[in-house]
Amino acid sequence: MEEFKIKSIEEWIQFFKVEVPKHVTETRWEHILRVANLAESLAVSHSYPNPKKAYLAGLCHDITKQKKKEIHEELFSEYSLDVTGVPFQAYHAYSAPLFLKKNFGFYDLEIQSAIQNHTLGNLKPVFFDQILYAADFLGSDYCQRLSELKEWIQKTKENLYFGIFMKAFQTISFLMEKKESIHPHTFYTYNNAQQSLKEMN
Ligand SMILES: [Fe+2]
Ligand SMILES: [Fe+2]
Repeated sequence: MEEFKIKSIEEWIQFFKVEVPKHVTETRWEHILRVANLAESLAVSHSYPNPKKAYLAGLCHDITKQKKKEIHEELFSEYSLDVTGVPFQAYHAYSAPLFLKKNFGFYDLEIQSAIQNHTLGNLKPVFFDQILYAADFLGSDYCQRLSELKEWIQKTKENLYFGIFMKAFQTISFLMEKKESIHPHTFYTYNNAQQSLKEMN
């Protein structure tokens, strides 16, 4: 087995800027870069001590997004990860941390958690999870088409729960429109963000 070298955050960023585009389409790569930049700037606005780490999480978050179902399933079985109840659209969030660890020896608990929870949300989100969750939404194709985007970014810089709420809201609306099921973590994320926004107003 190949020996993996430990790299600094800056070295990992340089590494993944070359590596990630090999695994995704150009449109997806553009989304990834937007998310990385937004994650970094949200981290700065909310005084997270290591904004470059948020950038790095953004850079890696969708690396397995366009992989075939078998690739995800192979990783789940290799690492004995139980994904019962996780819809296929969220497989990439669960497989990406395993893919990063297996192929590049890249392993960081905070980044792994943020990536794993960026699609469905989670029941006990830490601040770093929330940064990526909100950045993924503000950097989405859906948001790029909206005239309100600038304002939404500003509002999320002021209060992270704004972006979190909007992502959960949009996910739920979209799934309901298609009469699809909604994961309980997404409902929880919606309610929690809604409550937090209310309390702060
Ligand atoms: Fe994603
Ligand atoms: Fe994404």
